[in-house]
Amino acid sequence: MGKIGYVGVIFLGVLAFLGSVQGQLKFGFYDQTCPNAEKIVQDYVKKHIPNAPSLAAALLRMHFHDCFVRGCDASVLLNSSSTNTAEKDSPPNLTLRGFGFIETVKSLIEAQCPGVVSCADILSLVARDSVVTIGGPFWRVPTGRRDGTVSNSTEALLNLPSPFFNFSTLQASFASKGLNVSDLVLLSGGHTIGIAHCNPSFATRLYNFTGRGDMDPSLDSEYAEVLKRKCKVPTDNTTIFEMDPGSFRTFDLSYYRLLLKRRGLFKSDAALTSDSAGRSIINELLNAPVSKFFDEFAMSMEKMGRIEVKTGAYGEIRRQCAVVS
Ligand code: HEM
Ligand SMILES: *[C@@H]1O[C@H](CO)[C@@H](O)[C@H](O)[C@H]1NC(C)=O
Ligand SMILES: *[C@@H]1O[C@H](CO)[C@@H](O)[C@H](O)[C@H]1NC(C)=O
Ligand SMILES: *[C@@H]1O[C@H](CO)[C@@H](O)[C@H](O)[C@H]1NC(C)=O
Ligand SMILES: *[C@@H]1O[C@H](CO)[C@@H](O)[C@H](O)[C@H]1NC(C)=O
Ligand SMILES: *[C@@H]1O[C@H](CO)[C@@H](O)[C@H](O)[C@H]1NC(C)=O
Ligand SMILES: *[C@@H]1O[C@H](CO)[C@@H](O)[C@H](O)[C@H]1NC(C)=O
Ligand SMILES: *[C@@H]1O[C@H](CO)[C@@H](O)[C@H](O)[C@H]1NC(C)=O
Repeated sequence: MGKIGYVGVIFLGVLAFLGSVQGQLKFGFYDQTCPNAEKIVQDYVKKHIPNAPSLAAALLRMHFHDCFVRGCDASVLLNSSSTNTAEKDSPPNLTLRGFGFIETVKSLIEAQCPGVVSCADILSLVARDSVVTIGGPFWRVPTGRRDGTVSNSTEALLNLPSPFFNFSTLQASFASKGLNVSDLVLLSGGHTIGIAHCNPSFATRLYNFTGRGDMDPSLDSEYAEVLKRKCKVPTDNTTIFEMDPGSFRTFDLSYYRLLLKRRGLFKSDAALTSDSAGRSIINELLNAPVSKFFDEFAMSMEKMGRIEVKTGAYGEIRRQCAVVS
């Protein structure tokens, strides 16, 4: 048996087994099995996002919601069934849009390589290519994610940070996903694009912050008046407002500039300036060319895209993204 002995052989065997079951993400995972996969995604996104630029924000947010609940496994894409309420039908789903977009890309890829490319990878690639198409940062997307078979609305509620979180609850939420305070500040920068609904995302900041008919004192009072003219009643759940007004379609630093002017839209945005580490990260970003934000956002996105991924023999490759195969 030589020097390593039986125990050693068993140990190596277990390692090899774990390696094959666990696998790992890598760049160009589909190079041999579906060489056009990434190009199909990119071509479709480049062709259609310019006609519907607001979808880029929705798709970026969908990727975030996917990764924070059971890892980036496309659980966010599953439909509810008669016996299960899926993440999609959880309260934080507000304005999640673009499911049809993902499903179309999936069908284009299925036509070339049936049963090979996961919905989780497609969502990760679509989110990246959409942001690039509107002039935002490029980040690397290693592939090899497999699709989950469980989607549970309660878990979405438990795992997604709320717009009413403060700095410490945000920090804890991100830490539970392996992300630190820099990642929190950088990824919140995703709010440089997109929109939000008055209720339930921020109207209580204007009308009933602590339940005494008061306003959030951390919100600039002039800005609060502007917002109140938009959201006339606290229950208004149809009016939308840009999170980074003036440049809500442009990936830039103005979201962070607004934060320092106490004009962040959510309590969770404002909270980033309530902590000295948060403030210093924001100041560093604002004192550097926008390319620093892009580079660091890219690193945090790559990190987010690796949260609790299923690889190797775990999970499955769905045929349709809305149903378990
Ligand atoms: C830090 C914790 C976060 C909280 C509490 C949060 C919360 C929210 C809320 C409440 C909305 C508005 C929903 C609505 O009213 O329609 C929203 C929108 C959005 N979020 Fe976040 N978010 C967070 C982090 C992120 C991250 C990490 C990303 C991506 C990197 C992201 C990207 C977006 C985008 C792009 C939108 C706009 C969606 C659209 O225009 O349809 N958010 N977020
Ligand atoms: C969000 O969930 C509600 C139920 O809570 C459901 O009626 C609605 O269709 C869902 N929205 C999306 C985009 O899935
Ligand atoms: C969904 O998740 C919650 C919280 O973890 C759990 O209590 C519940 O049993 C799950 N529901 C299903 C149908 O598995
Ligand atoms: C943040 O929120 C949590 C949960 O609501 C609360 O226990 C904590 O005291 C808050 N922290 C600060 C600094 O307000
Ligand atoms: C967060 O993690 C990144 C590496 O992923 C590191 O570069 C950065 O310094 C960390 N930030 C903090 C505040 O620990
Ligand atoms: C404000 O919140 C409190 C406590 O949640 C509630 O009792 C009251 O009705 C609310 N007021 C308004 C104007 O919504
Ligand atoms: C919006 O509010 C109305 C009236 O309160 C309610 O009937 C409706 O279900 C709400 N819509 C959503 C998407 O929550
Ligand atoms: C999933 O639900 C959506 C919205 O209800 C529906 O349009 C779609 O056909 C469903 N997909 C499947 C595969 O059942």
